[in-house]
Amino acid sequence: MDKNANIKRLKEIDHELVLYQNITALLGWDQETNMPERGVEGRSEQLSLVQGVLHDKITSSEIGDLLEGLGASEQQPSGDSSFSDPERGLIREYFREYNREKKLPKKLVQEIAVVTSKAQPAWAAARKSQDYSIFQPHLEKIVELTRETTKCLGYKDHPYDPLIDQYEPGMTTAEVARVFNGVKKDIVALLTKISEKDQVDDSFLYKQYDSKLQDDFGRKILTDMGFDFQRGILSESAHPFTTGVGKDDIRITTRYTEPSMSSSLFSTIHEGGHALYEMGAASPELKGTSLGTGISLAVHESQSRFWENIVARSDDFWINYYAALQELFPAQLSGVTRDTFVRGINKVEPSMIRVNADEVTYSLHIILRFELETALVNGELEVKELPEAWNEKMHDMLGIVPGTSAEGVLQDVHWSAGLIGYFPTYALGNLFSAQFFETLKQEIPEYREYISSGNLIHLQKWLNEKIYRKGGIYTAAEVLQQVTGKPLDPSHFSRYLEEKYTRIYGL
Ligand code: CO
Repeated sequence: MDKNANIKRLKEIDHELVLYQNITALLGWDQETNMPERGVEGRSEQLSLVQGVLHDKITSSEIGDLLEGLGASEQQPSGDSSFSDPERGLIREYFREYNREKKLPKKLVQEIAVVTSKAQPAWAAARKSQDYSIFQPHLEKIVELTRETTKCLGYKDHPYDPLIDQYEPGMTTAEVARVFNGVKKDIVALLTKISEKDQVDDSFLYKQYDSKLQDDFGRKILTDMGFDFQRGILSESAHPFTTGVGKDDIRITTRYTEPSMSSSLFSTIHEGGHALYEMGAASPELKGTSLGTGISLAVHESQSRFWENIVARSDDFWINYYAALQELFPAQLSGVTRDTFVRGINKVEPSMIRVNADEVTYSLHIILRFELETALVNGELEVKELPEAWNEKMHDMLGIVPGTSAEGVLQDVHWSAGLIGYFPTYALGNLFSAQFFETLKQEIPEYREYISSGNLIHLQKWLNEKIYRKGGIYTAAEVLQQVTGKPLDPSHFSRYLEEKYTRIYGL
């Protein structure tokens, strides 16, 4: 076959695989939002059937032959340079997937599936009874299999490299360590300064806030952000998430909690940021292809956090929205000035639980996990030593020590699911978002007026042009370079935090 016939065939296969992925996403969506409790067994059979089909198709000899015919190799993963950028992006993605899946023996993949399916209930039981020893043998097995995975995938510098690469393609352990070390120092210094100041009041956030009214308000903001309700829906689930189940079907969830309003509002905006990226990535050119989605977890998280933290927790944002919020909740916000409100939603306080952490301390929770994971994977740390190592790091970075393993080492589901290498993407998202924001400020000098007048659509248009519509064509590093003109620089995030919290806390 000639090159043109090869790329045409790859696109046909891609279209079919995207449909299978959509089916998987729909099954997952239903499981989280609608499915009765006892549906779980049938659902996992359905999911594993579709995933098996996907795996077989991606690792088929036809894909291998096509990639070879397209000139893809380790030196040239995007194939022959005569192809267009979207075609090269597609070749790169398939080359990557194909090689990864080929390197992992089926026996190992199956063993991981069995071990993690037993580890998850054990983790839940351990967390409930605050007894690490229930989970420890399972985690030992998971770490052992993870080490084996790194050997199969291969690496040059650090066994953690192929793990992080799985979730954030192109990222290395050394690069993550470099940028994390940079921000860690700055955040710890900022926290010390904040701790010397009077704490802000946020008690008004923890009153009875009607869910229906919260929902109305969240939808209004989503609409202003450019969320297209003809191509997406907002629903509810225990853990907020975003998923694409079709080319014009992007779904998000939030969680309404009464009392308390801010967690659901900011979850809605956070997932709204993910959805805008997905909606923009499904551009006419990329729609229905595997490139019609966000490029990486970190870039995705940079978009959700941009909208949640940089935009919606800013003073400017509430110039426009505070009066409307007060009108919806007159009793709860009576006597609370806008200034008090903005300080309240930006309260900084070292706490045990990552998912409840504020914008300043959040990244420290991630850096802690990154340091522990790398040590576990390269054998410097043993699973039985983990709780103690966790508590020591909490003490060093945040100045607090968990009283129980439930609020320490057992708090996250990730390790029980075998997700080692995933955590860094959350904090990398913060770093990306601040760096993108720096460029946005230069290119849209009137951005503050737009935010303070509710004209959020101007920000969405800029992001769409610079990031969203590129979908998966370019790598995360390339997108960052194209938009900001330089590689990842953690100083933007440190400066952003410093400036913002100097204002909030009067440092
Ligand atoms: Co997110």
